[in-house]
Amino acid sequence: MPSYIKEHIPLAPYTSLNVGGNADYFGTATTEKELVELLEWADSQHVPVTILGGGSNVLIPDEGIRGLVVQIAIEGVRYTPKDDVSICVTGGAGVLFDLLIRDSVEKGYWGLENLSSIPGTVGGAPIQNVGAYGVEVKDSIVYVRVYDRVCKEFTELDINACAFGYRDSIFKHEGKDRYIVSSVTFTLSTVPKPKIEYADLRTRFSEGSSCSVHDIRKAVCEIRKNKFPDWHSVGTAGSFFKNPTISKEAFILLSSKYPGIPGYEQKDGSYKIALGWVLDKVLSLKGYRAGAVGLYSEQALVLVNHGGATADAIKKFSDEIIKKIFDETGIHVEREVVTLS
Ligand code: EPU
Repeated sequence: MPSYIKEHIPLAPYTSLNVGGNADYFGTATTEKELVELLEWADSQHVPVTILGGGSNVLIPDEGIRGLVVQIAIEGVRYTPKDDVSICVTGGAGVLFDLLIRDSVEKGYWGLENLSSIPGTVGGAPIQNVGAYGVEVKDSIVYVRVYDRVCKEFTELDINACAFGYRDSIFKHEGKDRYIVSSVTFTLSTVPKPKIEYADLRTRFSEGSSCSVHDIRKAVCEIRKNKFPDWHSVGTAGSFFKNPTISKEAFILLSSKYPGIPGYEQKDGSYKIALGWVLDKVLSLKGYRAGAVGLYSEQALVLVNHGGATADAIKKFSDEIIKKIFDETGIHVEREVVTLS
């Protein structure tokens, strides 16, 4: 076995929820070449491969992961001028997404500032099409460079090929075991394009007032600091559940039962509702705790490992929450966090 592959490695420290058992084998890919070598080794040993990025949106089972776990640590940030007003930036999949955003904001480039302070890596961002404050990462992506395990070559997928949706992409479905993200290229702008329609930002920047890209990043970081636990000290994976989308009729019915329920009309006429509000105002579950697992005291959509929680306990707790929501409202809720196996 090559010396860069380790055996029986605990995976919990590689996740922001801080739970999960051991990997049979564990290797880190710092370059595309190392990634291919690791995959070739796994093929030669007939063991399955699981890819780990920043570990900020995954739940790893207590029994761990069989086969080889590959941590993607491909670094590097490269800017390429596109035209008078736009620039492309390419980040290695292992670069912390917020470091790339901080760097591009420092250069005065617009596009990613609303996504400031989201934990995780550049490579993880397209997988769940991360979003915050009225922006999704798909809005800035030009292409995603991937290793195609079927054709055994690197290729670039444009945004159509990525099939982005709400916290969704091809990488969660038919591309799941096929593509491994090695870098992402975003387009940024030197022309101010403030997106401050989201309620939390609107209250900070009055209509028509000028704000810099730095101001927006600063505001987003402050808002997130107040709403989300610090994942350096508390086990968390951000929003644990997706905000459900329901029909207009269902939304009207729900609004009459729960006046004030926030709902956002989608392009197809359906409504995305704020599940955090339902958990908080309807079910009074903000801060609810069962042993070491709970919903965060400042944001009910965020599940917290208060210390020592198992993956099994988190699964049971989230099943209980999903059932409570269904019993009260009839709405089916999905987890946003992905369970690896
Ligand atoms: N709300 C409450 N109580 C709560 C939580 C929320 O009343 O405990 C209300 C808020 O006051 C607001 C509404 O519900 O009126 C929506 O809350 P918020 O703006 O905090 O956003 P969210 O829907 O809970 C989503 C994303 C977050 C993203 C924020 C900001 C999902 C699953 N979550 O949360 O993304 O940061 O909007 O744009 O779509 C993530 O995906 O991990 C994530 C953190």
